[in-house]
Amino acid sequence: MSILTELKERFRKALTGMVDDPADLLELVRRGQDPKFGDYQANMAMPLGKRLGRPPREIAAEIVQRLDVADICREPEIAGPGFINLRLKEQWLAEKLSAAILGPRLGVAPVARPRTFVVDYSAPNVAKPMHVGHIRSTVIGDALCRVLRFLGHRAISDNHIGDWGTQFGMILYGYKHFLDAETYRRNPVEELARLYRKVRSLMDEQPEINSAVLAETAKLHAGDVENRRLWEEFLPHCEDEIDRVFRRLDVKFDHTLGESFYEGRLALLVDELQQRGIARESDGAICVFIEGQKTPMIVRKSDGAFLYGTTDLATIQYRMETWRPDAILYVVDYRQSLHFQQLFAVAGMLGHDNVELQHVSFGTVLGNDGRPFKTRSGDTVGLEGLLDEAVRRALEIVSAGDDAKPDGPELSAEQRRQVAETVGIAALKYADLAQNRTSDYVFSYDKMLAMTGNTATYMQYAYARVRSIFAKGNVDVDALCNSGATILLDSPAERALALELLRFSEALDLTVADYRPNQLTAYLFDLANRYSTFFEQCHVLRAETDALRQSRLLLCDLTARTIQKGLELLGINVVEKM
Ligand code: ARG
Repeated sequence: MSILTELKERFRKALTGMVDDPADLLELVRRGQDPKFGDYQANMAMPLGKRLGRPPREIAAEIVQRLDVADICREPEIAGPGFINLRLKEQWLAEKLSAAILGPRLGVAPVARPRTFVVDYSAPNVAKPMHVGHIRSTVIGDALCRVLRFLGHRAISDNHIGDWGTQFGMILYGYKHFLDAETYRRNPVEELARLYRKVRSLMDEQPEINSAVLAETAKLHAGDVENRRLWEEFLPHCEDEIDRVFRRLDVKFDHTLGESFYEGRLALLVDELQQRGIARESDGAICVFIEGQKTPMIVRKSDGAFLYGTTDLATIQYRMETWRPDAILYVVDYRQSLHFQQLFAVAGMLGHDNVELQHVSFGTVLGNDGRPFKTRSGDTVGLEGLLDEAVRRALEIVSAGDDAKPDGPELSAEQRRQVAETVGIAALKYADLAQNRTSDYVFSYDKMLAMTGNTATYMQYAYARVRSIFAKGNVDVDALCNSGATILLDSPAERALALELLRFSEALDLTVADYRPNQLTAYLFDLANRYSTFFEQCHVLRAETDALRQSRLLLCDLTARTIQKGLELLGINVVEKM
């Protein structure tokens, strides 16, 4: 249980008997803003005073009198109009830390009530190269899965790829008209990407090609033998292409059930919707009218074609039947908000109202000009090109840093390349995860690879620096952890670091509360800063006494492990030297 959860529990008990339902008041137990006033603060006396028509300070005094925190905190203090300030006992912090150091979970207890989540993320439309827009869904979804699992939930990742849409009509058309057979034989992925781009550009200029592409798509959906055969031939190549990117990003899925997987269910689903009176015909199309919404959700067009939303409804049915999840998270661009609103409303009508359906939406990646990130020629930026460039720049930074080491370079050319791959990819992922997901952000290699500020590079560097102490001091970390050495928290910097280390659990709770990985990056950044202050103010290897040296080394070790684990939960690897 995190410190915050523990304190809330204590306040719940204290408030029982004073109010009927303390839930909203408990939200006012928070981490303190200024250490001068304590570590945590409870601000419920003011609203409660108003509610009960009594002076808030009097209420605060009553709460404190009923509050049992003597084992955790010093005597609570009432300040100003009725703030209750709490200061944790060093002894209690030290005990908690010792437990965290010994256990594999860094002080994070698994949740009492595990839930089953289906996380729908990445989901590129295959047959066209992945682009910058796919970074966000991929890394946010992956991080959420990792955090949920670490907390003890069951998270099923499902990559709902677009493998059945117009983009296949495009490569079918391209294949039939512009194929370079020789390239296709040698490198099908490259040739299919070329055909996609070629047809894409033609469609903009020539409306008849647009219709021809739609006709190819319709033929595929209607079961045309040749198109079906070609689709089956193309698909593995398209999957190879995206798999390469996922491998490089170190992202894995439990399932990749694309749109085509649900093809056989669509007609039945539309029948069911009609039979149950949920959908009805309107101008030849089958529609679901949703209360309070102007436009209906169309589930079958007048030409018989099914839509994106029809597939998504069938997907919900399948997921409910197969995994019985408590929640389904859709990590998808905010521009699809209306789609998800409609989808969730109709799912409710179908009786799927016992599941939390969440659109975990995110904003756009912008270029320097504040517009969606494009290449100079105006194309969206390919994802692989971005990865390559980030790694290239990381190599420059790593090499320069290594060359500048006081005792000369430490890394071989091959080691530098490996470190650069890890650092470059990490920078890109972290820059995305560190943003509030609902905002747009400006893509910048310089910022993401900066050695200072809230970047992966800074965090990886912080990790490597902490770890280097053990090598320098010739310390056997495992032996130290098991030695039973006690944690001493006499100086403010040690105490502040200790408290931050114990907040890991709280940061993870916050991350999943509203599905925001930037809560975790913010925590890690705070932790690294607390560590810096500690390291400036406290000698570790040259500590005044042996007991102090051991205690501080233990703090270093837990810091390194917490950073490593935190980054791992974001899908980011560390390097031991950089
Ligand atoms: N393939 C879609 C796109 O690129 C995203 C799919 C998201 N997942 C879903 N179940 N609709 O826009």
